[in-house]
Amino acid sequence: MLAKRPPMGWNTWNTFGNEINEKLIMETADIIIEKGYKDAGYEYVVIDDCWSLKDRDENGRLQADPEKFPHGMKYLSDYVHKKGLKFGMYSCAGIRTCADYPSSYGHEFEDAKTFAEWGVDFLKYDFCYFPHSANFKNAYLTMSNALKASGREILYSMCNWGLGDTWDWARSVGAHMYRSTGDIFDNYVTMRNIAVSQIDKLRSSAPGCFNDIDMLTVGMYNKGNVGLGVGTGDGGMTMSEYESSNIDYETQFAIWCMFSSPLMLGGDIRNMNDYCHKLLTNKTLIAINQDEEARPPYLVNRDLSDDPDKNKTGTYTFLKLLSNNEYALLLWNVSDEKAQASAIFHDMGFPYHSGLKLDFEEILGDAEVNYRCDCLTVSLKPHECKLLKFKVNG
Ligand code: GLA
Repeated sequence: MLAKRPPMGWNTWNTFGNEINEKLIMETADIIIEKGYKDAGYEYVVIDDCWSLKDRDENGRLQADPEKFPHGMKYLSDYVHKKGLKFGMYSCAGIRTCADYPSSYGHEFEDAKTFAEWGVDFLKYDFCYFPHSANFKNAYLTMSNALKASGREILYSMCNWGLGDTWDWARSVGAHMYRSTGDIFDNYVTMRNIAVSQIDKLRSSAPGCFNDIDMLTVGMYNKGNVGLGVGTGDGGMTMSEYESSNIDYETQFAIWCMFSSPLMLGGDIRNMNDYCHKLLTNKTLIAINQDEEARPPYLVNRDLSDDPDKNKTGTYTFLKLLSNNEYALLLWNVSDEKAQASAIFHDMGFPYHSGLKLDFEEILGDAEVNYRCDCLTVSLKPHECKLLKFKVNG
């Protein structure tokens, strides 16, 4: 079975966009091994959009851009496989990709064969230039069948941004993961909106098919293809706040772990600072993401839920039931102001009269926790989160 756990890897798009080539992919594969990313679980090396020539060849086949990929894709997949990693590529359900390259509508079976011949293990399948008269669920099912018929086991990563309530049908058409939102950018606002939009849509995310809330921006620091908008837009941090705090990245990674989202690195991991490297390879956090039961978090508490602008204010408290009778607890100050977040044990299904004691371990976040016999509270900076784990003692 593919995607027993949320898939983990690295993708070119967030940082590199169109600026991709063979050297970048090989160097990144090297770093995944050398810097312990593979040991932490990251295995797919995925080339996103912009890898091909602008037209198919005379036989109608997709062709890699020889300037970017002089030795072709099979050479690259061999290199990646020799490292013990897996090789991913990208196409689109429409007639052109989002960056205007040839795409797979009406070519599903021949393209799937091409990808299989190139040794592809993962296909991200996007949704631009989709014919208005065509049926999109059928198009996603067709590529799913084409991949299965290709003779190679290929993880199918659907990307239609949640259109048509993707969470309701992605599993039925064979997806192993499905993008449920629009694109992330390297700022707090898009990250926050993406996360909040999926809180009540995680029920169908489970082993075999996971809700994908987009590639991570951790470690981008406003550089690269989607590194726009820090300090701009609504509620974005200024550059100096961003550089000095790392709070937004901690919060992002903690939420991706609590939501069992695929973890696809989007930064330039050849130049990742120590702080982000440690965060992204934190085994305790990754174990929460990869927990075999993959339960969506239970919403314990949403403060200020009467606020009309629900995305921007207050705090969230999420409880994730893990296997082995462990629990993860995330308290998140969603707002741009300081806030106090709380977890009342009664709301977590542990009323005082249970007589049970919760043994907490602090996993992420600097904020000091006030523990009481029937609740805990924490004062959080803007955007900050505190992540704990606990076991229950009689
Ligand atoms: C869409 C997707 C992105 C990326 C680009 C490539 O916007 O949502 O993740 O794949 O296309 O053009």
